[in-house]
Amino acid sequence: MSEFLYLQLEQEFSAAIQAGRWQAGDRLPSVRALCRERELSKATVLHAYNRLEARGLVEARPKAGYFVRLQHRGSEAGVGKSDDFTADTPPALVTVPALIGDIMRRGAAFDILPDTDRRTDMPPGIVELNRAVARALRHQRGLQHQYYDDPRGVTALREQLMRRYQRRGCLFDAEQVSITAGCQHALFLALMACCDAGDIVAVESPGFYGVIQLAESLGLKILEIPASTDTGMDMDGLERALQSWQVKAVVVTPAFATPSGSLMPQAARARLLALAEQYDLVVIEDDIYADLAFGTTPSPLKALDHNDRVILCGSVSKSLSRDLRLGWIVAGRWQQKIEQIKLVNMLAGNRFIEQGVADFIADGGYDRHLRRLRLQLQDQRDQLVQMLSEWSLPVRISQPEGGLCLWLELPESVDTLAVYQQARHAGVVITPGALFTSRASYRNCLRLSFAHPWHKRRREALSLLGTLLLEA
Ligand SMILES: Cc1ncc(COP(=O)(O)O)c(C=O)c1O
Repeated sequence: MSEFLYLQLEQEFSAAIQAGRWQAGDRLPSVRALCRERELSKATVLHAYNRLEARGLVEARPKAGYFVRLQHRGSEAGVGKSDDFTADTPPALVTVPALIGDIMRRGAAFDILPDTDRRTDMPPGIVELNRAVARALRHQRGLQHQYYDDPRGVTALREQLMRRYQRRGCLFDAEQVSITAGCQHALFLALMACCDAGDIVAVESPGFYGVIQLAESLGLKILEIPASTDTGMDMDGLERALQSWQVKAVVVTPAFATPSGSLMPQAARARLLALAEQYDLVVIEDDIYADLAFGTTPSPLKALDHNDRVILCGSVSKSLSRDLRLGWIVAGRWQQKIEQIKLVNMLAGNRFIEQGVADFIADGGYDRHLRRLRLQLQDQRDQLVQMLSEWSLPVRISQPEGGLCLWLELPESVDTLAVYQQARHAGVVITPGALFTSRASYRNCLRLSFAHPWHKRRREALSLLGTLLLEA
């Protein structure tokens, strides 16, 4: 039990609702009665009730009090639950809001600005990586600079990646790996290769805005499938969608999806592949966060793919450096088409970066770096959760066991898009919930990253954000 009285009350009442002792429509004790009977302050009771409301367990009815809400199957109501999905919601062409461009230009796509303290030392792993890339440059031979590299990428890197995936249960060989300019590029190649303009692509909701941007530029229709903050894309929701619409591809991030950090359980993965078989789908797997697991690195979906339905995409952008612009794609039956598109599109990659990263991995530098990074991220996540618990605002927070971010659900009345504008004037940039959908949803949600250390200015920015949200 928490030491905070409001949390104790919240836990007691949520347990009663979830155990069915209180049913939908039941009236909760009045605030005044609770204050009197339990000798609690009004603020404590209201705080607990607000938190229950934000979790979707109760609703406040003006002048009548608090009532238990109808609960959705097996989970609390709120963002991305399968019952939110109706097969009548048609797939739609999308227009990405200018807001995404604004946030990207501020370099804040994965952070709450102000950014990290520039005096912070470079992590030892990055120092080692830079040396490996510099060594690769020094070893440039003869007239190599006059030739493009193999469009699939440097063999040594493809071999290292293949070995890493072997450790995670995959059986493909290095010949089947193509190097890309990051994961976004890999996703682009995958969608380009297997979809035509007008095709329908199912995506997680809330989900990665980069996929929505790609859909817009490729003229694809998006079908948003609810995704829970714990277990990712809802397979019941997906199945209902497949029964109604002819979906070409599904894009999923099974490991630590952005924005919630959800991890897809084995049963859901197996069901996704069975649905892919039944409905002739291409599954595009975004594996960018798997190396940031706090525990064991989960196997990719690709490891279960016996019928060549999964296109595996990844990069080192989150686990090593965004500057490298280095990713990969393992595309099975679409590989040739993808390599052709890549060839036309960029001719070849950057040999020295690829060789340097291959050497860095082969020397054990990447694993050493990951060991340190994972501990640091876990610590930063805990600090963020702790700081959020000090906000005097009811908030429901996701509980990721890896990745880089938390997903916050605030009371329905809070508009994080409006808060985005206010915070920006104060020099603080955030990523509001509206970024993670092509629809008018998640206005009361927010993604917060724990990618960076919590130095003083960032703590102050977070505390300012808490105040702005409270006033919103
Ligand atoms: C889920 C997901 N996929 C892909 C990307 C793009 O990665 P990259 O920098 O490797 O292109 C991101 C970046 O934010 C992401 O969050």
